[in-house]
Parts: sequence; structure tokens; C-alpha cells
Amino acid sequence: MNFLEDYQLAGNEIEIFKYPNPVLKKVADPVTEFNDELRSLVKDMLYTMYQAPGLGLAAPQVGKSLRFFVMDTDYLREEISDAQGNESYKLSEFNPKVIINPLFKDHEGQILYEEGCLSIPGIFENVKRAEKVTVEYQDMWGKKHTELAEGVFSVCLQHENDHLDGIVFLERLSLLKKNFLRKKFLKAQAMA
Ligand code: NI
Repeated sequence: MNFLEDYQLAGNEIEIFKYPNPVLKKVADPVTEFNDELRSLVKDMLYTMYQAPGLGLAAPQVGKSLRFFVMDTDYLREEISDAQGNESYKLSEFNPKVIINPLFKDHEGQILYEEGCLSIPGIFENVKRAEKVTVEYQDMWGKKHTELAEGVFSVCLQHENDHLDGIVFLERLSLLKKNFLRKKFLKAQAMA
């Protein structure tokens, strides 16, 4: 079993910080140590993302102000519960990506896509993003890669990268829409 296959068996669910927690507004620091501690956090973040479920999860969302995120825009997930009634999940198809110290090189075109965020649960809105992006990044072992992304993959990369700069998707909307959705979210949280 390889590293990315075993996260769904070995990961731990970790707390996702909700908007407007101050950690979500910080500009994150570059990752400099590609060690087991980092890989263990990656595994827990993937487990937590699939558990939620969501398409992406950035380190600041779990309280670590570091420049990396995990994502998967292409997976099939099945709910399972054991004899004690504990809920879990099983993935039959998945394509996890671990993006560390990303650097965007090119932006092309425009796409409107309905986004949500695990830190702002229950809020969804169309956001305008670049349709295609080229990104350079490192993997969990520090190796460099370049990837050309389009469509949902491109949208997700840009959304997660924003988290590393202390930006949530509400900031990408008009002030009017942002304030409306912000109030709606805070009200729902207060009643929860
Ligand atoms: Ni998000």
C-alpha cells in the first residue's frame, strides 16, 4: 500500500477552524522541512477532507500557518457504519493531490463556478476565477513539479492557494454579496 492509499485507513480526523478565526486571515509561511511530521499532517488532512467531505483543505484551516494544501476533485465516496453505529467512509476511486509551496505562473481565461469552503459550511456562491492556471509546487518529499490545470481542478487550486494568503472565497465577491453572506453565516453559527 502506498502512502496516499493508506490515509483513508490510518488518518485521524482533525478540527477544521471556522471563519472568522484569525488563523484564516494570516499569510502562511513556506514549508522548509519535508519530514515525517509534515507527512503525518498531510495524511490527517486528507482523511479529514474526505470525511467532511470536501474538495480541498489548506493547512491554515486546521490551524497550521504553512503554505500547503491537499485536494481531490475526482473521487467516489461511500458512507459506512460499523456494528456500534460509528460512521465512516470508504473511497472506491480517488486522486489525492498534495500541493506544497505553490507558485502560480500563468492565468488564462475566465470561469464562474459555485464554491463552498469547509471553514464556512453552508455558504455557496459563484466566484470568478481563471479558467486555466500553471502552478509550480513541491510534493511531500520536496520534489518539484509543474502542472497545468483547468476547470474544477484550476478553481480548487486557486481557492486553496487563497487560504495560504489569508483570503477566504467571500473576499472574491462584491462587497454587498460578501457582507450578506458573512452575516448569514455568522447568524447560522450563533444559532447552531
Ligand atoms: Ni476553503
